[in-house]
Amino acid sequence: MEKIVINGGAPLNGSITIGGMKNAALPVIFASILVEDKCVIENLPNVSDVTRSLEILEAMGAVVERRADGSVSIDTTIINQGSSPAEIVGKLRASTYLLGAELARFGKARVGWPGGCDFGIRPIDQHEKGFERLGATVSRDKGAICLDAGDAGLCGNSVYLDFASVGATINVMLAAAKAKGKTIIDNAAREPHIVAVASFLNACGAKIFGAGTSIIKIEGVEELHGCNYAIIPDMIEAGTYMVAAAAAGGSVEIKNVIPKHLETVTSKLREMGVDVDEYDDSVVVSRAPETKMEPVNIKTLPYPGFPTDMHPQFAAILTIVDGTSKVTEGVWDNRFRYTDQLRRMGANISIAGKTAIIDGVEKLHGTTTTSVDLRGGAAVVIAALAAEGKTEIGSIQTLKRGYDDLVGKLKAVGADIEIIITDDDE
Ligand code: EPU
Repeated sequence: MEKIVINGGAPLNGSITIGGMKNAALPVIFASILVEDKCVIENLPNVSDVTRSLEILEAMGAVVERRADGSVSIDTTIINQGSSPAEIVGKLRASTYLLGAELARFGKARVGWPGGCDFGIRPIDQHEKGFERLGATVSRDKGAICLDAGDAGLCGNSVYLDFASVGATINVMLAAAKAKGKTIIDNAAREPHIVAVASFLNACGAKIFGAGTSIIKIEGVEELHGCNYAIIPDMIEAGTYMVAAAAAGGSVEIKNVIPKHLETVTSKLREMGVDVDEYDDSVVVSRAPETKMEPVNIKTLPYPGFPTDMHPQFAAILTIVDGTSKVTEGVWDNRFRYTDQLRRMGANISIAGKTAIIDGVEKLHGTTTTSVDLRGGAAVVIAALAAEGKTEIGSIQTLKRGYDDLVGKLKAVGADIEIIITDDDE
């Protein structure tokens, strides 16, 4: 069993280069199913969710060639409908994108139930509503989700989303890209990865307008063609290292970022008294270890609000900030499982409804912990970097889902961190 071991207290200094955004790469990989041609996707992060997504495509008949430079060539000329392996589909949330992609390409889809981090209920009713508005029927068969657009095929329509869901917005864009006529998505999600998926599809010949706003218009086209496309930098990976630098102290340049995507993180860190300097494609986060930080309140919301995927990392740093801070989760039902791990390290956190109330303590103490989910694991890493003594973190496969070379990147800026192999059962 692999574990991460961190001896806390070392300040971080140097630079970290950010990779491609996981949550843009995953839908782009599945969107390539619509293309029926060869696409070259550059700047893919080397994370297990990407590897699994590519494995699903390969199992369905696509020719996938991963290159050493971080790009991948995907040829989807041949894809067998309904052939995605349920055991891999069930390990990641992004496999929901297979629904929209298969439906667009074949007029029907059959996909196993998706997996992903456990944040309480993760319904797909808004995805299903979108497919139905475009003329598909939705049914279940032996644990699989089945869609069928019948002889009439998919037809454009208006789709109002009750919640600005990232997944539902992308799935409706996929289904509508080759549907007959025009689709309008109202209350669409506005995250940068929505823009990335629309840009990829447009580069393949789709006609998608307004991505990045809450109204997206899609004029269906008959055919798409292959393209070369580079994935944008991962704002959550960048935000995680920004918070790590602030928590441990020191000065870290975070390279290859889009500073605009980091505005909410930057402004919260500044409110806490941390220095953040912005440049064209980098930010520098600095805090002298003796500088005190201020408590803050945070509420997560869909973009351009404060990202839910940065909630646990901020909760981690706030555990060592003198005073009371509150972190309110506005996207997921239950994203607080990681707080038990911070409590094991001495954090004083109580949960009231959807709010974590954090009373800062002077020091956290290293102990044995677990990474309960991707960002919850990142929170424990941040806490451990700032803690006194040694922290062991188990279940690190959750971290590998979304962080490319986390240990190597932190080691390079001075963290005392390594991966060890143990015989322990987890
Ligand atoms: N929701 C519904 N019905 C639906 C779809 C969503 O009620 O049909 C609700 C969800 O229960 C949740 C909210 O809407 O309360 C937001 O869900 P959304 O659909 O936006 O999330 P997602 O597409 O499943 C993606 C990311 C998550 C990120 C969320 C929010 C991927 C693969 N996952 O999930 O990323 O937290 O958007 O920004 O893109 C992560 O990277 O750590 C991660 C969890």
